[in-house]
Parts: sequence; structure tokens; C-alpha cells
Amino acid sequence: MTDRIDTAPPAPPAPPHPCRICGAATEEFLDLGRQPLSDAFPARTPVADEFFYRLRVARCTACTMVQLVDEVPRERMFHEDYPYYSSGSAVMREHFARTAGEFLASELARDSAFAVEIGCNDGVMLRTVGEAGVRHLGFEPSRKVAEVARAAGVRVRGDFFEEATAADVRRAEGPADVIYAANTICHIPYLESVFRGVDALLAPDGVFVFEDPYFGDVVEKTSFDQIYDEHFYLFTARSVHAMAERFGFELVDVRRLPVHGGEIRYTLARPGTRRPSPAVGELLAHEEERRLAAPDTLRGFADAVAAVRDDLLALLTRLRDEGRTVVAYGATAKSATVANYCGIGPDLVSFVCDTTPAKQGRLTPGTHIPVRPAGAFADPYPDCALLFAWNHADEIMAKETAFREAGGRWIRYVPEVRVD
Ligand code: SAM
Ligand code: TMP
Repeated sequence: MTDRIDTAPPAPPAPPHPCRICGAATEEFLDLGRQPLSDAFPARTPVADEFFYRLRVARCTACTMVQLVDEVPRERMFHEDYPYYSSGSAVMREHFARTAGEFLASELARDSAFAVEIGCNDGVMLRTVGEAGVRHLGFEPSRKVAEVARAAGVRVRGDFFEEATAADVRRAEGPADVIYAANTICHIPYLESVFRGVDALLAPDGVFVFEDPYFGDVVEKTSFDQIYDEHFYLFTARSVHAMAERFGFELVDVRRLPVHGGEIRYTLARPGTRRPSPAVGELLAHEEERRLAAPDTLRGFADAVAAVRDDLLALLTRLRDEGRTVVAYGATAKSATVANYCGIGPDLVSFVCDTTPAKQGRLTPGTHIPVRPAGAFADPYPDCALLFAWNHADEIMAKETAFREAGGRWIRYVPEVRVD
């Protein structure tokens, strides 16, 4: 069993546990230290009862699945006040409208088609499916985001997707032609139950499609901030291929996606029902060639992570000592890992601006930097802005051109620390 830690301070770290997917031994390769819940923004100081856990990462010695050592109970992360709203980015709204359009033109282009989404959040994808008059259902346990989806006309069941809830839907509504999940399957430690649920609910010729951050991009870009409580797994084509086989499915397609710093969309089907695309074999061979899951690659990654931490802390300390003003842009869940691992608090970054009302007026998890509305960024502009939301860089640069024109400089740390 994986550790469950319920109270701070955490117990001394236990050795890595058997792989959550295949049960073989795991080896820890990275320790990002004591971390808070990445999406828990305390209301005020002094902060009482903040929850911490140990963020350690291990790799399975058999199936190579990269996974966290310690598991945060799901109800602590996904609850009524979960503050992530998928529709907050224009680029992501377009991405999900396009995704829905592709399903409508393929798997859902049949009479009485039925689409199910795991983790539909505020309905950013299913809204388009519903507007096309296609039968659908979203699973979304976080109540306030689910209410936003319902208000947009999306059918939502307020439960975690797992074997029992999926089987219940199958009994009541029949088989699904597509089961889709974005940025959610990697959040779920109990994937065996999820796969049993998919098996119960999916039509014989249906597809299970999910997209999540790609560990190949994480290593290539040293984007260690993709690792946090909610991202329990970091997938590769190899580990997903093995997981699909173990749970009775076949990986039939992989597609690289540019969103969220580099993702892969995996398509799974029942064995023998779809001809696998050549992209699967090509990506498996590419991962093998670059030794993506090899222990020496992971050691190199861990060294690169420590170097980014040292460089970023040295830069921010120098800017403070020179009297420069520094604020951060985007109170992302990812930035909890960076701020807590590097030790970046209000002494180095005066505030973080963010467009999400549920985060504004609160403090960042663990490091307690105030979060202010987006308008605070230009009031007045700081000397430097630390780009926490680096995965939305194109969108942010396009709307913040005046910052550079006023002499402001962006600080980035992916793939390395630089000021430009
Ligand atoms: N799909 C959206 C996107 O890509 O922007 C939302 C992603 S958000 C990071 C993850 C969502 O999955 C949250 O809204 C959370 O409440 C939901 N979630 C977590 N575990 C789940 C489960 N077992 N079944 C259904 N939804 C789940
Ligand atoms: P994400 O990286 O998990 O999608 O989170 C992005 C965060 O950044 C979210 O809190 C919204 C915020 N944000 C802004 O403040 N301004 C922006 O222009 C964008 C795209 C996101």
C-alpha cells in the first residue's frame, strides 16, 4: 500500500512502495521535500492546520511507471472548493472545442451516441458535445466547478469515476462510445478500479482516450513543477502501453499535444478492435533510444532539477538585494512545487497575480505569498515578473506586451533559468 498521511508534520519517509500499477518494486529517484496541497490557498495568516506531505518520486523497476511515493487522500484535493477552472485559458477553451469537434466527427457521428468524460470540470469540453445534441455525462466530484458545468447545460454526475460508479452508469444509460479524460487520469492513484469501470461502461468497439503531461517533456525541459500532489503518475508511451495491456486494453494511438507544456493523448481500445497507428511503435522506439526510463537518465534529471533550484534562488535573492520589485504571474498548482522546493516566499516575490476569483485575496500554499487579481500586475508594473504559468506563455505574452514595452523583464525557469 502507498502511504496515506493525514496530519502535519509528516511521518519520517517510508521506503518506496510496490508499483500501484503492476506490484513490482519501485525505486525513488527524486525528493522535492515537504509540500502543501498544490490547490489549497489559505485565507489568511497565521495559517493554521495546513496539510503537508512528502513529495517523492519513484519509478517501477518492471513496468517503468513513474509515480509518487506518498498518496494524498482524494477528498483533500477534490472537493467543493477545488479552485481550478478549466475555462480560465482562451487557448484551452479552443483546445477543448476542437477536441469535442473531432469526437463529434468520428466516434460520436452515429445514432444515439454516448460520450462520458472523467473530470469534466466546468464543462469546457462537454459543453460543445451537448450543444450538438449528443448524449453525454461528465463525472466531476468537485462541486463548485461541476455547478458551473451544469449551469452551461452539461449533464454532470458529482462522483469520482471508479468501478462502482461507472458500472452504475452502464446499467442506467447503456454503453459509452467514447470515454475521455483530460488532465485527470494521471491524478488517480487507483487506476485498476478506473480501468474496471472503463471495461464495464465502454461499448465493445468504443475508445478510452486520455491526455496528460508527458514525462518525456518533463525530463527534456526539466519541468519538475509538473510533479505535485494531483499529478500522481507521470506517463510515458511505454508505461501506458504496459498498463493498458495489464488491464485488458490495447494502446492504439498516441498524439503529442502542445498544451500544458507538452502532453500526449493516448487512445486505448479493446484488444484487436482497432488497428494500432504507426505512431505508437515510433514513440516506443524513440523512448527506448533516448533511454527515457533508465536510472542514469533519471539521475541526470534529478541533478538538473537541483541546478534550476539553485539558479532561481540565487537570481531572486540578487534581485531583492538590488532593490528590484518582483511579482509572479499565475498562481498555478505547479508553482506550489517550485516555491516550496526552492524556498520562494513573500520576501522574494511580493505577490502573485491570477485571474481566478477563487484564488484572489488568498495566500499561496505553503509559502504564503498573497494572490491578487490580474489587474494588480500593471498597478504599477514590477521590474521583473516570475512566469509561474509558463505553460500559458504564448497567451500571456500576447496580452502583456505593455509590460515589456515599459521595461519589465520576464523570469523563466523552464527549461532553464533566464531573464528576458
Ligand atoms: N479536464 C479538465 C481539464 O483538462 O482542464 C479538468 C482537469 S482538473 C486538473 C482534474 C479534474 O478531475 C478536477 O476537476 C477533479 O475534481 C477531477 N477528478 C479527480 N479525480 C476524479 C475521478 N476519480 N473521477 C472524476 N473526476 C475526477
Ligand atoms: P494551469 O497552468 O494549471 O492551467 O493554471 C493556470 C493558472 O494561471 C490559473 O490559476 C489561471 C492563471 N492564469 C492567469 O492568471 N492569467 C492567464 O492569462 C492565464 C492563461 C492563466
